[in-house]
Amino acid sequence: MTAVGIDAVEIWTGNLKLDLPGVFAPEKGEDPEKYTKGLGLNASSFPDSYEDIVTMGANAAHRLMERKGLEPDDVGRIDVATESAFDNSKPVSTYIAGCLESVFEGDFHHANKGERKFACIAGTQSLDDAYNWIRAGRNRGRGALVIATDTALYARDDPGEATQGAGAVALYITEDPDLVTLSTEQGYGSADETDFLKPNQQFPSVDGKRSVQVYLARMREALVDYQSVAGEIHLDDVRFVPFHTPFPGMVRKAAMLAYRHIIRDTAVEDELADEIGRQPRPEAFETDEEFREALREYMDGLKETDRYQEWYAETIDPTLTIAREVGNWYTGSVHVARISALKHALEQGEDLSGQKLAVGSYGSGAQAEIHSEVVQDAWKDEIGALNVDEQLEERYELSWDDYEEIHDVHNHNMDVDVESLTTPEGEFVFGGWGRMGEREYEYVE
Ligand code: HMG
Repeated sequence: MTAVGIDAVEIWTGNLKLDLPGVFAPEKGEDPEKYTKGLGLNASSFPDSYEDIVTMGANAAHRLMERKGLEPDDVGRIDVATESAFDNSKPVSTYIAGCLESVFEGDFHHANKGERKFACIAGTQSLDDAYNWIRAGRNRGRGALVIATDTALYARDDPGEATQGAGAVALYITEDPDLVTLSTEQGYGSADETDFLKPNQQFPSVDGKRSVQVYLARMREALVDYQSVAGEIHLDDVRFVPFHTPFPGMVRKAAMLAYRHIIRDTAVEDELADEIGRQPRPEAFETDEEFREALREYMDGLKETDRYQEWYAETIDPTLTIAREVGNWYTGSVHVARISALKHALEQGEDLSGQKLAVGSYGSGAQAEIHSEVVQDAWKDEIGALNVDEQLEERYELSWDDYEEIHDVHNHNMDVDVESLTTPEGEFVFGGWGRMGEREYEYVE
């Protein structure tokens, strides 16, 4: 069976940066540690006035195609995953293809283009679509470009405001890929939920506290479903677990839940029993409330054990390094977590070839999906070619006044025209409006 997976990745961060403890916290009258320790975030990426989901997606894809020496003829499919789309008919992938055609020889006239929507999980769903298309033998030897791009902005003063972010991830999916292969096995946890939605509005309506519980419930279901098809997960078999990361504090909760679930009825649970007891089982309690209280106590104990903390530091923490500096990129977020882990391994001089990742994707509304990936031999070249650190360092640091203005610039209900804060160079930019209300783009050398 042909191995299919991710051959290459690229990211493009919004060109601006909001410092959460230094700029955001004082204005909100909050303790900076609420952001750095509680949510686990240092900064958010923001789009400058000439940036949007098209420019960021096209810039990430442009870098990827140039680096891999790809021409439009090599690409048989362009799927864009986003929850920040500005057109209910014409997909963002057509705008991005138009941008790319302006800088490459040839065109994408024989490539299938689309747009995927299911909150943040749409990026992984597009990856699945590409995988299925190739495995079905319909690709004619060509690869698929999957672009996850979002301006994840919340209404001002919404509790989610601290978790904002903007950026794009481009993924190239092929047979015999250089980076990771994907498992055929997948687990799903999916239910009709009303926790985060945008009913024909730009900024989300969010029930933040509930969204956290829904994330955990669906992720747990996906884990059970995954194990039912792929067999039990053993902690030692999985090197990293990249989760969808709306903010690192969310992943702290998801990781704890996954760990508790995986060690139940195993030697690890037995070995920890002397220290923290065995996991409470619902049948041992008269009421659900008593069971939940016992579970909370067990989790509090588990989180303090050396064994759990070592596992977390090795397996989860490295997936969060980039998220801490950029915030939530919605559809791109879980793909940023994968890059973050692989980049960490490269920096540590670790050899990951043949090692396994368990990837936990999530989208509000709500659905979780878990699959596994195997790291391929050429992974170091791929990850070594990224310029993530340079991109993050080069961002312009917003003052509070800048932030208020730039948030208004990206508010579709406001008409704000301001000078950009940075000077674009070697990138696509928003160039104005066309005769039918379409957005126009140009490449700036
Ligand atoms: P909040 O209510 O302002 O924050 O917003 P909080 O009071 O719950 O505090 C957050 C954490 O900081 C807590 O930690 C506090 O204890 C801690 P926890 O108890 O949860 O572990 N804290 C401190 N720690 C140290 N020092 C301090 C301090 N103060 C507090 N001084 C909320 C939190 C998540 C509600 C908000 O950020 C929000 O609404 N976010 C948007 C929704 C969201 O991200 N949900 C996550 C799950 S849903 C999802 O991931 C999907 C999504 O990406 C969308 C999609 O799929 O399209 C959002």
